[in-house]
Amino acid sequence: MTAMPADLKGLDLRAEIERLRKERNAVILAHYYQKPELQDLADFVGDSLELSRKAAETDADVIAFCGVKFMAEVAKILSPEKIVILPDMEAGCSLEDSCPPEKFKAFREAHPDHIALTYINCSTEVKALSDVIVTSSSAETILQQIPADQKIIFGPDRHLGGYLSRKFNRDMLLWPGVCIVHEAFSETELLKLKAQHPGAPIAAHPECPPTIVDHADYVGSTSGILNYAKAMEGDTLIVATEPHIIHQMERALPSKTFIGAPGADGNCNCNICPYMALNTMEKLYLALRDLEPRIEIDETLRLGAKKSLDAMLEMASGSVGKGDLGNR
Ligand code: 13P
Ligand code: SF4
Repeated sequence: MTAMPADLKGLDLRAEIERLRKERNAVILAHYYQKPELQDLADFVGDSLELSRKAAETDADVIAFCGVKFMAEVAKILSPEKIVILPDMEAGCSLEDSCPPEKFKAFREAHPDHIALTYINCSTEVKALSDVIVTSSSAETILQQIPADQKIIFGPDRHLGGYLSRKFNRDMLLWPGVCIVHEAFSETELLKLKAQHPGAPIAAHPECPPTIVDHADYVGSTSGILNYAKAMEGDTLIVATEPHIIHQMERALPSKTFIGAPGADGNCNCNICPYMALNTMEKLYLALRDLEPRIEIDETLRLGAKKSLDAMLEMASGSVGKGDLGNR
């Protein structure tokens, strides 16, 4: 983890980041699960698909990625000539950790007649072993383009894969990974909360287990959930995803109420992504100042991973701006 120099005390970090952003010709991209102060100074805040597209099309020299490592790696794969920095290199993902490349390779080799449709929350190596990458906002559009008789391996998120498999009646072999954040929501506590707010719909991310998704009025990506909040008629929404997204909802819809779905202890603190939380203003400042930590990827590996990402961008083109899996 990046060491924190004591001389940062007293620095106006926001002003310093502004200065460095201009000096470096940097673009700051942030995921919705980042701390509000990072979301507020980003040039763009979005879901995984939108962030991939922004990274591919930017003309900045430096991409400062406020998100997790696999997202910054996607930026580097799609924009290899740019310097891509991640405030904290330890910002990983439980889904990526659940899927070591050598085990995934063996799994693929054991099922040679299957194609690998793989969630973007995985390592660059696993992307290079896959046929098509999906995000939660593009998975539905992409799956519908794959012939019904084509056998599919889906990894590493078994809940997203299971959701797609049930919704589209597709038999898929699922890798047994989960997101520790979405896995922590409690059905019992959610039903107690719903009883207190009977008129409030529930919006859930498809990384949630079926015990949560089955109670949701809307299931979709982070952008999809945000769009649902904007379009809904009521004034209260129960949000079953990482609670930092509520910052964007409160900014866009200050008169509405957003309640984070609870974990087993009855509050939503256990649903804060510990990896996303590693990024801070201090670390972003240091990363822009030092242009470190920097994402570097071996060129052969990058080209391998780019194929499955390009397939996603091509096949997802019909889902531009929709950003969701749709109602259940
Ligand atoms: P989306 O923003 O694409 O919905 O992904 C959520 C997530 O878990 C990112 O790690
Ligand atoms: Fe990974 Fe879950 Fe954190 Fe997203 S919220 S980065 S899937 S651990």
